Amino acid sequence: MRFDVLTIFPSFFEENPYFKYSILGEATKKGQIEVHTHDIREYSEDKHKKVDDTPYGGGAGMVMTCQPLFAAIKSVKKENPKAPVVFLTPQGETWTQPHAEEFATKHEQTGLILLCGRYEGIDQRVRDALVDIEISIGDYVLTGGELAVMTLIDSITRLIPGVLGNENSPEEDSFCVKFDRKKEYPHYTKPEEFQGIKVPDVLLSGHHANIEAWRHDNLK
Ligand code: ADE
Repeated sequence: MRFDVLTIFPSFFEENPYFKYSILGEATKKGQIEVHTHDIREYSEDKHKKVDDTPYGGGAGMVMTCQPLFAAIKSVKKENPKAPVVFLTPQGETWTQPHAEEFATKHEQTGLILLCGRYEGIDQRVRDALVDIEISIGDYVLTGGELAVMTLIDSITRLIPGVLGNENSPEEDSFCVKFDRKKEYPHYTKPEEFQGIKVPDVLLSGHHANIEAWRHDNLK
């Protein structure tokens, strides 16, 4: 699956060990995902490569201007015309596991164009003309959309078939359908006793039906 990320901080992605190691690193090496970054500033026609300006009507902060964003999005869309443009903003729909599942299937072939805002926001005309979906990762304000984009990429990638080994199947994740979208059951591993605290007997019993029942009763 292809992710095109538009940001004024491409190094947050290019130099990020998070994308080089572990599951995302392996998925990249195996070609299961491709993360392409695009520096919005490079599309600015301003002689100082400015990408923001003061808001009409006054108020605090700066707003990302239309020109570089229109140029950047249009250029990426030319390469990948079917990918929806997702803008990360606290005003968007809140990202949940069902969103991740939907995006991993519906957009696996087309990929996603992920737009990171900075400052107070982006000019509304960009949102009206070029953005297809607005997503928030929670009711708090980050300094920009970059961490939110990483959250989306991570939660989608682990659902792409073959990315997690069988031993880490996403079918038994928190919020999965099998567990009525509740959280998971408690996990224990060796030793049987640690600092006087024992693993519940039922998990050592080898009685699969009882274990299933215990796990179901203990979903949190
Ligand atoms: N940009 C700033 N805050 C954000 C949030 N909570 N979700 C998505 N993008 C953001």
